[in-house]
Amino acid sequence: MKFFIDTASLDQIKEAKDLGILDGVTTNPSLMAKEGISGQENILNHYVKITEIVDGDVSAEVISTDYEGIVKEGRALAQLAPNIVVKVPMIKDGIKAIRTFTDEGIKTNCTLVFSPGQSILAAKAGASYLSPFIGRVDDITWDGMQLIEDIAEIYAIQGYETEILAASIRSPLHIVNAAKSGADIVTCPLKAILGLLKHPLTDIGLEKFLADHKNANS
Ligand code: G3P
Repeated sequence: MKFFIDTASLDQIKEAKDLGILDGVTTNPSLMAKEGISGQENILNHYVKITEIVDGDVSAEVISTDYEGIVKEGRALAQLAPNIVVKVPMIKDGIKAIRTFTDEGIKTNCTLVFSPGQSILAAKAGASYLSPFIGRVDDITWDGMQLIEDIAEIYAIQGYETEILAASIRSPLHIVNAAKSGADIVTCPLKAILGLLKHPLTDIGLEKFLADHKNANS
């Protein structure tokens, strides 16, 4: 399973990259706004900065919701760098645009996916990545991880090549369960990735090793 970081923070992207486990980045308009990035030129420049940090794919989301607008915006985003993936919402015009991008060889990430039916449409349109939002499904007391399992089963049966990118990940447990459920990729906040490191027995064991070494060598 690949690890993407879900942020527009250059510092967090660099920290995840330095860990040696980073395969890509996803952003969205909310995450860009959180970093205070606004204005078309600043937004485009920020995407370029991200692509200069990471070798893997970087999802840059369109704002338009009509076919012509999505295609125009997506083509411009795709020209920023070879590793830009155009992130397109799961709406009717979005699916049409994904088909156009697919035919033009532009990689896409179909976002705001909440049902197996939507996952089939995105795969049929040729989306490179599919982003089911686990945490937001859990938020309304449905089972986000069941959604990943259902999509993974459908994609395996049908031989769809679209990669399942589990998104709206909120915790280390989400990451572990996404891995068990058949996600190809998880995109997570840095905090959730670093949370995977934690185990009290690791801390206790390390403390004891270091204490024993110190006693034996003093
Ligand atoms: O990748 C989508 C993600 O950014 C949404 O996460 O926590 O806002 O539901 P969240």
